Amino acid sequence: MDALEDFIRRLPKAELHLHIEGSLEPELMFALAERNGISIPYASVEEVRGAYAFSNLQDFLDIYYAGAGVLQTEADFRDLAMAYFERAAADGVVHAEIMFDPQTHTDRGIAFGTVIEGLLAAMAEAETRLGITSRLIMSFLRHLSEEAAFETLGQAEPWLARITAVGLDSSELGHPPAKFARVFAAARAKGLKLTAHAGEEGPPDYVYEALEVLGVDRIDHGNRALEDEALVARLAQDGMTLTVCPLSNLKLCVVGDLAGHPIDRMLAAGLKATINSDDPAYFGGYVADNYRAVAEARGLSRADLVTLAKNSFTGSFLPPEDVARHLVAIAAVAGE
Ligand code: ADE
Ligand code: ZN
Repeated sequence: MDALEDFIRRLPKAELHLHIEGSLEPELMFALAERNGISIPYASVEEVRGAYAFSNLQDFLDIYYAGAGVLQTEADFRDLAMAYFERAAADGVVHAEIMFDPQTHTDRGIAFGTVIEGLLAAMAEAETRLGITSRLIMSFLRHLSEEAAFETLGQAEPWLARITAVGLDSSELGHPPAKFARVFAAARAKGLKLTAHAGEEGPPDYVYEALEVLGVDRIDHGNRALEDEALVARLAQDGMTLTVCPLSNLKLCVVGDLAGHPIDRMLAAGLKATINSDDPAYFGGYVADNYRAVAEARGLSRADLVTLAKNSFTGSFLPPEDVARHLVAIAAVAGE
């Protein structure tokens, strides 16, 4: 391990943008397919990895939803999340706010309770055994209807105390945030925090809508906000957290190459950017890999890395006393 990698791993970090279904590694996909007697259209782990070449978000989503089909039982969801927590802990992640897509599972007959109870079991184990705290973000699939999102919010009712926020993901183009204005208002009325993917493939207008119509607490991705100077100024002024995902941006062709990634432009513009892995099993890297790849490609300084790590806690949904404790731990590693 070289000095950069060592520094990145030792920095306490929060992950704020992680789809738990996107952490399904091909090895576990095969194991679960066998355990559940499900056939998958791949002969080997290598063949699965070979299929992970995407030219846009939809290309990826088609494969990602198909892969999630091996998840059947509470134990499957627990094993999936536990594998993520083990990997995240090894990267120096001490807090994770994980998204799950209930509709990906309920639409194929898996009960909402099966999904969430498996995830909650892993979250409890991760806290006691690995010392990682976590929160759940329930994401609505934006290619489905408002009515379907309301139905999901209703199914979540018995577990609302265990869910911190709602999110909005899946195919962005053609499904603007305003489509879910009423569901987000209902979620807010239930005391949930709000986040939405915006400006990944969608235009700056979608970021405005997420802010103004949904009233989000965080923006997931937000890359295309950079096309609008007034929007950048507003995001900076509001201290709005952007959950940026460099390797995802590369694999989904949001950027042509990492050398052209805008992470340092975001920081220079005063944007509260964070580094996250999105769907690490599909995009070739977990949190530390994302820090490292973009640090090397853009020549980020240690001070930039420290800022990104601090942003991950100040942008989290943790209470202020927990945020303060993590910031002290970062300062100790940074030698501040
Ligand atoms: N679901 C999983 N990953 C996603 C992404 N990067 N954008 C939109 N929806 C997603
Ligand atoms: Zn995402």
